Amino acid sequence: MRIDPWGTTQVTDYERLREEFGIAAFDLERFPLPQPSKIFRRGVFGHRDFHLIHDAMTGGRPFSILTGLMPSGKMHFGHKMVIDQVLYFQNQGARVHISVADIESWGARGIPFAETRRLAIEEYILSYIALGLRAERCEVYFQSKRKAVTDIAFTLSRKVNMTEMKSIYGFEDSTNMAHILSPLVQVGDILHVQLPEYDGPCPTLVPVGVDQDPHLRLTRGIASAFRFYNVTLTDQGHIGIFVKGGQFSEKDVQRLLDKAESTVLGLGYSEIRKLPRYRALYLPGGTARAVPEIQAALSPVELKEGGHGFYPPSSTYHRFITGLTGSKMSSSEPDSAVFLSDSPKDGAEKIMRAKTGGGISAEEQREKGGEPWNCSVYEMYLHHLSEKDSHLERVYEECVRGGRLCGQCKKEAAGLIKEFLMDFQEKKEQARERIDDYLVEN
Ligand code: TRP
Ligand code: SF4
Repeated sequence: MRIDPWGTTQVTDYERLREEFGIAAFDLERFPLPQPSKIFRRGVFGHRDFHLIHDAMTGGRPFSILTGLMPSGKMHFGHKMVIDQVLYFQNQGARVHISVADIESWGARGIPFAETRRLAIEEYILSYIALGLRAERCEVYFQSKRKAVTDIAFTLSRKVNMTEMKSIYGFEDSTNMAHILSPLVQVGDILHVQLPEYDGPCPTLVPVGVDQDPHLRLTRGIASAFRFYNVTLTDQGHIGIFVKGGQFSEKDVQRLLDKAESTVLGLGYSEIRKLPRYRALYLPGGTARAVPEIQAALSPVELKEGGHGFYPPSSTYHRFITGLTGSKMSSSEPDSAVFLSDSPKDGAEKIMRAKTGGGISAEEQREKGGEPWNCSVYEMYLHHLSEKDSHLERVYEECVRGGRLCGQCKKEAAGLIKEFLMDFQEKKEQARERIDDYLVEN
């Protein structure tokens, strides 16, 4: 199985996806969040290294969130799911970086830079502000204008070759070079926030749809390739800290081992075995939890030694919302989505026309009940329209038992959409005055 970030496949089997790509299951029991918004209660199904974010957040330590957008048309409710997460973490103290992927738009779709800029601002950034994005500790930048992003992309490209790029993305010999370079620019997006002139090495969360996971695998691989130390839990249950091969002289290795030793002493490890011949330190009796802790503690050492000390970027994955027509929700199919720029009347009408999980006739539905798990209107309640769990449960129960018919149910949803869009669009107009507080030109 290969995920194509620029393709149109519809994902339905999340469990299989998690298994195949090593995405961990996300749940609020494992990661209790203060007042989790509904996207965490219902939408997020997986993560990589979310504990780094959770630990920082609950420990009151700094962390960052980075997201990017490649506007391929109008913003719809599917796109809103990433921003719902960004807003939550901004309120929890995250620093927010938003990349307008104009290089990717050019590389993957041939959209001119000026056009991407216009669409990004009109359709997305103003919407983010209307949805509640605040200007403090938040910036929106353009890939093509931020030299740190393209510079680090070039530097980091040293650690990935064409065979890997082909196997991750399925690139062909005929793929244009700008397209091949654009995921490396995304790697630059994700890792440049950890440069000292930005936030410095720190946990960074990238909330995405699972279609973006290839970029995360690429980024995590590169971030780890640039670390000086390799920290692992050995089969014997020890923690091994190794200085990586190649670039270091014997003297360097000696110094790096000494620095690692004093670092882990500082963490409270007293039993340390140093094996310079193996470029290694062993700490007997370690736990898996200790690995990221030690990696984090070694990050400033690497920075002082001229490295980057990158934390592996964390990610969360949200479900895709089914389109109102029953296929994929897509900007290129006007009826499949309610766009945030649809008039309240049009939005309501789209809901009234949506494909549901109801019976063929009212009688049949009263008798057999509906199938909310097969219903695009239910998904709108689930992810966007129904805040309270008690309301959502009522919709579900009534539907399954046949007490709720689609006509009435759609009317309720249409009313909610209408109200939402009226309020949202007013806020979006007001957002225009404040847009300069968000945009940075380099
Ligand atoms: N590739 C993303 C998309 O297609 C956009 C993007 C660019 C991005 N840079 C990013 C997403 C960094 C997450 C993180 O929408
Ligand atoms: Fe969907 Fe509502 Fe019809 Fe049930 S009653 S199938 S939730 S529209």
